[in-house]
Amino acid sequence: MVQASAPGKCILFGEHAVVYGQPAVAVAIDQRMSVSLALNEDWRIDGMSFHPQRHPHVEALRQRLWEGGPPLSVKILGDIPPASGLGSSAALSVAASAALRCARGRQIKDDDWAEGWTAARPNKVYDGPWEVAKGDDVEYGAQSVDEDECAILTHAVEAFAQGGRASPMDSSTCAHGGCIVLSDKVEDDLNWLYSRKLNDVSWEVHSVDLGEIDDVWLVIGSTGVHAPTSEQVAKVAALLEKQPEKMQEIETIGIVSRRGIAALMRGDMDAVGRAMSENHLLLRNIGVSCPELESLIAAAAPTSLGVKLTGAGGGGCMIALTRDPKLTSEAIELAGGRTLISKLGAAGMRVDNDENSPLWDPFE
Ligand code: PMV
Repeated sequence: MVQASAPGKCILFGEHAVVYGQPAVAVAIDQRMSVSLALNEDWRIDGMSFHPQRHPHVEALRQRLWEGGPPLSVKILGDIPPASGLGSSAALSVAASAALRCARGRQIKDDDWAEGWTAARPNKVYDGPWEVAKGDDVEYGAQSVDEDECAILTHAVEAFAQGGRASPMDSSTCAHGGCIVLSDKVEDDLNWLYSRKLNDVSWEVHSVDLGEIDDVWLVIGSTGVHAPTSEQVAKVAALLEKQPEKMQEIETIGIVSRRGIAALMRGDMDAVGRAMSENHLLLRNIGVSCPELESLIAAAAPTSLGVKLTGAGGGGCMIALTRDPKLTSEAIELAGGRTLISKLGAAGMRVDNDENSPLWDPFE
């Protein structure tokens, strides 16, 4: 059995404004998705027969990493609620790409990858058919797995499953963990990781070193209201068309995000919280909050350093930064929300078991 896992994410600053080039900040959360693989007589997902159209992410990864390989039984476990803006599909895809890579190994030629995907060679795809020269080295198990590759594959797979549109926010945060900043330009003072391009849009992806944060937590509150991201993004676009002066709010969100990043880097959590609450007011001004979010936010505010909606809005989730997660969580639940508690910036993709790898050796 081979098993890998990856965290979900939530957006601390900059949702919606990132669509217009402003920086956005996401952190990995403690909740994870885990994928385990074992050889089987036929393809199975959680014991049921595998229907590619029902599992577009797994199918797209199967095509990229397992073409011609033997059938697998795939088991998916996790505690990230689906369709709530917490990155469950990206976490699943990162975990699945790590598990598939781990289960097949990677061919190495002249001390370099002979196949695979890598940020060192942006957007270049080495996807065979491979000329396997006998005697070339192959890395097996956990050491064949690479965070960048999982992020690249997951971005591609998310775009595939979402009709061509996906930012690398979820894929990068779920692969690398910690804190990730996306922007339309390379940001001074941040650790630049790579550029990503999809169709005509490009992003600069950075990481922020959060250091040890052990005295504040995020409480994530779900409204239970489902609001598709595409509709909320379209709503903001329509507003900006009708009232171009609202672009001011988008630019101010950018300023607040940068202030939030600086506070995160200083470890000044009170200032992080203030920036979050300010960010929320601006999001409200562009019409992406809703009564259910407002009621959870009002319930959490008295015990929190900062509160805001997270992700697309119109429903979905809010987050509270708090020193007393139990109290804040209870307040949100009393107001009708379902909660999760997480530290800021959980660990990224991880191989949890590679005992039996490889499950298939395409390089034999
Ligand atoms: O769908 P979510 O919750 O991960 O957040 C969407 C973030 C937006 O800025 C609203 C859209 C986007 O593509 O960045």
